[in-house]
Amino acid sequence: MESFLNNKFYVFLFVFIGFIGCKNEEEKVEETKPEKEELIMYQPSEMASFMNAMYVYNLQIKAQIEKGEVPVSMPLDLMTLHSAEMTKGNKRTAAWNNVVDVFIESQKAVLDTLSNIELKERYNSSINNCLQCHKTECTGPIPKIKKLLIK
Ligand code: HEC
Repeated sequence: MESFLNNKFYVFLFVFIGFIGCKNEEEKVEETKPEKEELIMYQPSEMASFMNAMYVYNLQIKAQIEKGEVPVSMPLDLMTLHSAEMTKGNKRTAAWNNVVDVFIESQKAVLDTLSNIELKERYNSSINNCLQCHKTECTGPIPKIKKLLIK
């Protein structure tokens, strides 16, 4: 549990925050007509920050699994998905609601030491649920999330 709360984790978090947003495609169009708002520094929403924390968490889980270790800790409160404020313009759509609880259960299942499903399979299925939601809700980070899959 402590290992995720140490400084390294936060350094990691900072490096990744803001790298990839949902507006990848739109940004190109906007470049031609700069507006005042764009001069304001990018402030990730509570949800975007949480998503980045989930990304970093899963990156560490992936590394553990690849080393043959069994991950046991979940430093993030997944219920944040139900409460966090999203970037302006995003909301909890029907597609979001359809997958969010499935995702939460699959992410928890990664740590289920009593499961008889193979660890790698449980891990990949939780990442596939990230992708399932992203397919409609936020396509920008898909290539980045795909890299979390264990081959
Ligand atoms: C239920 C839907 C859903 C699930 C599940 C989900 N995401 Fe997201 N994700 C979103 C939405 C919506 C946003 C945009 C958040 C915002 O800024 O409002 C987002 C944003 C992101 C971002 C970009 C954050 C930024 O800096 O703008 C990353 C990276 C990300 N998600 C990774 C993940 C990973 C990794 C998982 C699985 C561990 C995951 N997501 C699971 C819907 C989801």
